[in-house]
Amino acid sequence: MTWRDIPRLAELEQELFAGDAWSAETWWAELAGRPRREYVVLEGISGIEGYAGVDHGGDVADIMTVAVSPERRGRGLGDRLVDTLLDRARSRGAGAVMLEVRADNDAARAMYRRHGFAEISVRRHYYQPGDVDAVVMRRRLEEAR
Ligand SMILES: CC(C)(COP(=O)(O)OP(=O)(O)OC[C@H]1O[C@@H](n2cnc3c(N)ncnc32)[C@H](O)[C@@H]1OP(=O)(O)O)[C@@H](O)C(=O)NCCC(=O)NCCS
Repeated sequence: MTWRDIPRLAELEQELFAGDAWSAETWWAELAGRPRREYVVLEGISGIEGYAGVDHGGDVADIMTVAVSPERRGRGLGDRLVDTLLDRARSRGAGAVMLEVRADNDAARAMYRRHGFAEISVRRHYYQPGDVDAVVMRRRLEEAR
């Protein structure tokens, strides 16, 4: 991901996350957080098809976001993005990867479970407005030890 992607990312965020969308300003701040923050995009002939990011926080890495454009879903792109983030976390020496996901996001919860993430706790009323719980998930990276 580069700063040139920001206008399109801000558009996609509105489409994908509505009330929780990241603005162009947020994307600038996130890219300024490199190298601790790391973001990747998947590009097809019509532009960005998916993107994802991770925070390399020492022993524990945190997945910041994973998103696939609605027209390109169900083809394994989400899986590729999660695999990429796990590889990047492993290569930076993390022992575990954590994330928070909306409790009502069945597609994402199923995807993360298939990648070995366990649901370890619930943060009640985390997403506001909407009053939706956050599920905290963790995947250990034993291979890095
Ligand atoms: C979650 C998301 C990234 C999945 O992307 P995708 O490219 O469609 O996912 P994949 O094709 O790689 O599928 C991976 C797995 O996700 C799960 N999955 C994907 N779509 C699903 C759906 N609609 N319902 C249930 N499970 C689903 C399945 O386990 C799937 O495995 P399968 O192909 O064996 O069924 C995509 O739906 C998305 O961008 N959603 C909006 C943003 C979001 O919620 N991001 C996650 C929170 S940060």
